[in-house]
Amino acid sequence: MKDNVIKLKRPELRRYLVPINTASTQQLFADCLVIGTGVAGLRAAIEAAGSGCEVIIVCKKNLQDSNTWNAQGGIASVLGRNDSFASHIEDTLKTGCGICDRQTVEQVVKDGPGLVKELLDWGTEFDKSQDGSISITLEGGHSFARVAHALGDSTGKAIVQALIHKVKNTANITVVENFYAIDIITNDDGVCIGTIGQNARGVMEIIWGKTTILATGGAGRVYRETTNPDVATADGLAMAARAGAVLRDMEFMQFHPTTLYIAGASRALITETLRGEGAILRDVNGDAFMAGYHKDAELAPRDIVSRAILAQMLKTNSTHVFLDIRHFDKVFFSKRFPLISELVASFDIDVSKDLIPVRPSAHYMVGGVKTDRLAHTNIKNLFACGEVASTCLHGANRLGSNSLLEGLVFGRIAGREAFKQSGKPNSDMGLRKFRYDIPQSDRSRLDTADVLNSLRSLMWRNVGIIRFAKPLAETQEIISFWQRYVLDKIFDSDQGWECQNMLTVCLMMAKAAETRTESRGTHFRDDFPQTDDAKFKAHIEFE
Ligand code: SIN
Repeated sequence: MKDNVIKLKRPELRRYLVPINTASTQQLFADCLVIGTGVAGLRAAIEAAGSGCEVIIVCKKNLQDSNTWNAQGGIASVLGRNDSFASHIEDTLKTGCGICDRQTVEQVVKDGPGLVKELLDWGTEFDKSQDGSISITLEGGHSFARVAHALGDSTGKAIVQALIHKVKNTANITVVENFYAIDIITNDDGVCIGTIGQNARGVMEIIWGKTTILATGGAGRVYRETTNPDVATADGLAMAARAGAVLRDMEFMQFHPTTLYIAGASRALITETLRGEGAILRDVNGDAFMAGYHKDAELAPRDIVSRAILAQMLKTNSTHVFLDIRHFDKVFFSKRFPLISELVASFDIDVSKDLIPVRPSAHYMVGGVKTDRLAHTNIKNLFACGEVASTCLHGANRLGSNSLLEGLVFGRIAGREAFKQSGKPNSDMGLRKFRYDIPQSDRSRLDTADVLNSLRSLMWRNVGIIRFAKPLAETQEIISFWQRYVLDKIFDSDQGWECQNMLTVCLMMAKAAETRTESRGTHFRDDFPQTDDAKFKAHIEFE
């Protein structure tokens, strides 16, 4: 370990997933290319364009398909009268279990109120208290109510709508939907010069960027159980790794304690702010169990609540536990949580009489592409922000509702830095013509849909909430086997590329989890339940 870093070798990877021939590929040009339209990407695009860049922002599906859009609880910021920056900073550091970067935490927390105010000015409909101030609530790990919410439990949607409105009213931003960014392109000097992807017409297209901002979001879909939308398939992490970016803290996947559990229905987040407003966790026997696990009971940190739920499921031999909000005022509930209200009603759950079945699922990739405090990656002209980035704000565990805030802060920084870089006279991209060929594979072709299903189950079983050495090692063997038959192929559609990306990233997640023989934050090793500061108060990096 050097400088609190444990270095692992990045797996050997084919440089690009698809053959490239610039002579026969259609091309677009931007000063600043942004990949991803969650809060970080949109905020980055606005900043870069506001500074004078011609910006192209692309997303894999539609503007609504992001983790941000689905965010329910809210955005954490110091807005309450008794609250303080010092308290928000301490809560973030404590939840991060010793490996946050204090300077980053301080910057993010202090920028919070101004950026929330800016969102308000741009039209985000934050819910208000009777005195007209922004209404705030509690979440686990927060010492004060500081989670601002909008449209009840549709905070992400309200924020994205305001940012999209701003983007669409900014002349020098072009939005391209249904563009699957397959790879980041680098020149012979390893400098990032844009992306190759498939556009909405199914045609390969290169977008050259003097600078590129990666804001592709997370990787929840690598797990069978997840709160994440279909698009969260680790694409940005994998393409960054192929381009030579350093990936950090990949063992830290945050599991959200409460996902609606109805067999056969797709999993849906049940926001933590429901517990912030007084919801109680009960097991199948009706017993409230959280006080037996932590002094903060329902509002303990997420990793503790998730493990407590699993333990209680095991004890009671059940597939789930329940959230009890029978004591809530019906009108308050439907006004404060309209989305969940509609969701549970669609399954005929009457919350005044019935309990809501829930269990934990994969929620947020804490690790990601390593950046410095100015959103620079180790690849020149490539920046990263939002969930795909590892800024060291979260350390080993993310404090609830800190991610929308991080997206705003680092989106703004990335946009500003990209502008500075795009404006430099020597920032010519240096390469506009090249060819990359891939030989045809003669190995058997696996059924990618089948591999994906098996991979998600494998990750859930072996790289999930509770981990052991042997299954982690086996996981790597199984993934390596699949990789031999999948990574050597050339695909021409999303499912194949997603499968390649997920296999690439999952191997690193399992390897990092095997390497960290201790428990810290979201990473819990049943065979090493203690935190080992002497060996592991450190980051694991693939380079
Ligand atoms: C939630 O609403 O519980 C999720 C918020 C978050 O993950 O920050």
